[in-house]
Amino acid sequence: MKTVHLYIFGIGNVGSTLIEQVLAASSFFKEKHQLDLRIVGIVNSSRVLCNASGISKEWKTDFAHFSTPRQPDSFYNFALLHDEVRIAVDATASKELSTFYPELVQKGFHIVTANKIANTLSQDFYDHLRRELHVNNLSFEYETNVGAGLPIVATVKDLTNSGEHIAVINGVFSGSLGYIFNRFSQEETPISSIIKDALTQGYTEPDPREDLSGNDVARKLLVLARETGLKLEFEDISIENLVTPELQELDLKDFLNNLSNLDASFDKLKHSLLEDEVLRHVGSLNTQTKQLTVSLQKVKKDSPAGQLSGSDGFFEVYSSSYKTHPLVIKGAGAGREVTARGLLSDIIKVANRAETFVYSR
Ligand SMILES: NC(=O)c1ccc[n+]([C@@H]2O[C@H](COP(=O)([O-])OP(=O)(O)OC[C@H]3O[C@@H](n4cnc5c(N)ncnc54)[C@H](OP(=O)(O)O)[C@@H]3O)[C@@H](O)[C@H]2O)c1
Repeated sequence: MKTVHLYIFGIGNVGSTLIEQVLAASSFFKEKHQLDLRIVGIVNSSRVLCNASGISKEWKTDFAHFSTPRQPDSFYNFALLHDEVRIAVDATASKELSTFYPELVQKGFHIVTANKIANTLSQDFYDHLRRELHVNNLSFEYETNVGAGLPIVATVKDLTNSGEHIAVINGVFSGSLGYIFNRFSQEETPISSIIKDALTQGYTEPDPREDLSGNDVARKLLVLARETGLKLEFEDISIENLVTPELQELDLKDFLNNLSNLDASFDKLKHSLLEDEVLRHVGSLNTQTKQLTVSLQKVKKDSPAGQLSGSDGFFEVYSSSYKTHPLVIKGAGAGREVTARGLLSDIIKVANRAETFVYSR
């Protein structure tokens, strides 16, 4: 039996669901994989709880009563006392934590992350992190960076590693924008009301401009582009911001109060659609031209993207073997359950691969 210590950063939607999934399947992992997965550390932005035996089902109460103020090195000092395989799991959206990854690797942590930031900082940082991983013989998995639990990162990585040339990837990358434009194309409801509904139902970020700006989709596109071997910066991406410059400047409350300013231009766009067209928010990358674009597009209703519903994600990959009939991946593209399951699947991969560990640095 291999004992694996999990350190979970972030106990919000995804992190807390992951904890429940790990605890629920603990016997299964022992039987099926001979893995004793123990969550020995959990941390949010201010507090930390460590327990070498692994946290229990009562972890929320324990965290409330026994957690201590978080120090930057809380986990390091604790981890140094233990020789087991250690995996840091990032279920935050923190840039601060992302910039810390090389240091985590130097301290002997494998990393599994849902957070896209480390993969979309500068190319120099991206390369530096991979060098550290290589030197330290540690793993880094991030399937949930794109399409939540859908296996798009692994597919692009595996095709590229097998010598396949990837030419084009198109997709509806954002569950929240998918929800907004699927409804807007079907209903006679102003875009402002649909955005407010999406916010209320938790589909968008607390500030919907994070989604509407196109930046989140652009990050996902950059993760895939770099997976194909392209060396690019975030600034190289052509991004259509769906928020007018005046609304971009406002604080969140004023933005939401003035959201109806978007209605007229979106209604005009909808009325310009042909009968067999709908609007979809699309990300595209072309490895030949090195062009990455994020934009709102008119697509045919009977096309794969046009047929999407709800907050589905959709990706099509054209490559040397998939020239005319693309490889297609489609399914729930957001949500805490599928994202946590994707993280857990990455954790199992890393844990199975990891050498039983004795840390010496
Ligand atoms: N939700 C989805 O459907 C989905 C899908 C795919 C990927 N993701 C990605 O998954 C990540 C988490 O999303 P979420 O929806 O779970 O977010 P969330 O509910 O807002 O939770 C974020 C958690 O991170 C903690 N945190 C923030 N900064 C931290 C730091 N520096 N160190 C330690 N903990 C910190 C927060 O603590 P406090 O509460 O103390 O601030 C909170 O517990 C994001 O990167 C997101 O893009 C989410």
